[in-house]
Amino acid sequence: MSEGTAKKEEKPRKFQAIRGTRDLLPPETALWNRVEQTAHQVFASYGFGEIRLPIFEATDLFARSIGAETDVVSKEMYTFDGSAEFYARFREKRVVGTLSEMLPEEVISLRPEATASVCRSYIEHNMQQWPQPVKLYTFGPMFRRERPQKGRYRQFYQIDAEVLGGSDAPGIDAELIEMVMTFFERLGLEGVELDINCIGDKKCRPKYVELLRAELRKVKDKLGPDSQRRIETNPLRVLDSKLENEQKLIEGMPHIADHLCEECAENYRGVKKELELRGVKYRENWRLVRGLDYYSRTTFEITAKGLGSQNAVCGGGRYDGLMELLGGPPTRATGFAIGEDRLILSLQEAGKTAAPQGRDVYIAWMGEKAYATAIDAAKNLRAAGFSVELPPVEQKFGKALGQADKLGARYALILGDNEVASGEWTLKTLASGEQAKFTEASLLEFLRKGKMGSS
Ligand code: HAM
Repeated sequence: MSEGTAKKEEKPRKFQAIRGTRDLLPPETALWNRVEQTAHQVFASYGFGEIRLPIFEATDLFARSIGAETDVVSKEMYTFDGSAEFYARFREKRVVGTLSEMLPEEVISLRPEATASVCRSYIEHNMQQWPQPVKLYTFGPMFRRERPQKGRYRQFYQIDAEVLGGSDAPGIDAELIEMVMTFFERLGLEGVELDINCIGDKKCRPKYVELLRAELRKVKDKLGPDSQRRIETNPLRVLDSKLENEQKLIEGMPHIADHLCEECAENYRGVKKELELRGVKYRENWRLVRGLDYYSRTTFEITAKGLGSQNAVCGGGRYDGLMELLGGPPTRATGFAIGEDRLILSLQEAGKTAAPQGRDVYIAWMGEKAYATAIDAAKNLRAAGFSVELPPVEQKFGKALGQADKLGARYALILGDNEVASGEWTLKTLASGEQAKFTEASLLEFLRKGKMGSS
């Protein structure tokens, strides 16, 4: 082939994170770690234990618990055919089978939330035999195919806590809410506001929903297409509308609080009293309905500052009927999930970033003998809890100090032939330029004191 006819070399494809997903990079990940560490501490102090769950489950688990008609299940799940035949076919033909060829029991979805999985696990491991209630929490990525925007991602992270079993004593709901408020306070989250509501149970809610539907039908023509559709599919969701021109009409609708059965009303009064006992400030919001079907009685949402329209950092509530719906024993339950991405965003907006993670010590070594000493020194310093950078190739002294500076190192440990021979090492404090000589033991002691002074 002559040069003239040679095909232009194709540029390799440039890969980017899929829309709605993102990489979390240092130093931001230090803040994620601080948030998660604080959650471990606070939740453990309330007697919660950590559970780790699979990231995909049977699609049917989510359809049954969250509700087949909800946006999450009907529009937003990432669903696959998990069957062996499907993968064999895929490998052979390099084609993807059509949806109708899938075997229903083999269809799996990336989890859009964690509550359904926690319940599945409670049933699967007979946790009703454990001392009740069982208090569990979990962290991890969730997946919803929503329109990405600030604070809304297709892969996002939740910190989820659930109380399963035991009674429906209002103290359980109130303590759970107290726990999340304590967690937010510990992190210094700003502008935290708690909204609560009671959405009744299977005895009283259906009557209210019918009443609401009838009232909404009367004004149907004045509502937008989404609300019009929801009058039939899920009238409670109309109350959630943010459309300006619908607000006045919605304000005139009957309130659920006036249609609760006596047990629900009594329980709701109890939850409010318990919150007051605990000094937790709340706002009652009769229009707070949640986007998932499994709730009954107390529901809540927490908003925070600096998040724009996606300002809910936490949502939760009681879901007493769910376990039975999944084939388990009748089990009372309540829980919440925090949107960790939003929590981090709000902390960042308020300037609460974690301190950048600089190195404690940069080892500037010169010469083969010094390298062997430097390797040992790095190992010992790291074992003592210091962050150490050991350059893998010899550098000129000036370059080494420049590199130490760029990495934000606090000290440079200078190791050359003289230092190795005398056993007296030189430590330079980079901010002040001061230098001093130390033996390895006295160096450790000096650094330890410095660390205590700086923390
Ligand atoms: P949820 O209200 O669907 O509830 O989600 C809880 C929180 O997750 C939201 O308040 C929000 O902070 C965050 N979140 C949801 N979707 C996204 C997204 N696309 N991007 C970023 N953050 C998001 C539940 O998931 C229930 N499982 C909570 C629960 C636990 N109820 C009882 N137990």
